[in-house]
Amino acid sequence: MTTSKAELYDQLAAQLSSLLAGERDLIANAANCSSLIFHLLPDLNWAGFYFAKDDELVLGPFQGKPACVRIKFGQGVCGAGAARCETIIVPNVHEFPGHIACDSVSNSEIVLPLVKDSRLIGVLDLDSPLIGRFDEDDAVGLERLIKVLMKSIE
Ligand code: SME
Repeated sequence: MTTSKAELYDQLAAQLSSLLAGERDLIANAANCSSLIFHLLPDLNWAGFYFAKDDELVLGPFQGKPACVRIKFGQGVCGAGAARCETIIVPNVHEFPGHIACDSVSNSEIVLPLVKDSRLIGVLDLDSPLIGRFDEDDAVGLERLIKVLMKSIE
C-alpha cells in the first residue's frame, strides 16, 4: 500500500472509532460510516450500505444520489458480492454483466461483504466516476472500516 493511502485509511479508521464510540445502533452507525467515507475518500459519487433481508438486499444508509431499493442476491455487483460473500472490485462497471446503473456517472465500483457472527448481514458499496478508482489497498482499508463498524454494534 502506498504511504498516503495507508495513512488515509489509518486516519479514517481512527475517526470512525471515535465517531461510533458509545453507540451500538447499526443504522445510526452505518449512516455515520457512509458519511465519513463519502466525505473523506476522494473521487466517490456514492457510498453506502445494503442490508440482507430474505433473498435480497435492501437499501440502507448512504450518501449520493437516490439508488435502487431492492437487489436480488446474485444481481449486479452488490448482489454478486453478497451471493459470493466476497469483496468485488470492478474497474469498469460497463464491462460487468448485469451491473445496475443507479447513477450514470459511476464508472468503477467496489463492494465488500458485512459479516457478523459468521453471517452475511449486508454489503458496503462505493461508486466512483473514475475508471479503475479502487484497488486492493482500498479493499484492505475498507475491510478495516467494516471491522470497526461490526465491532461497534456488539
Ligand atoms: N451498481 C450497483 C447497484 C447499487 S448502486 O451502485 C448504488 C450494482 O450493480 O449492484
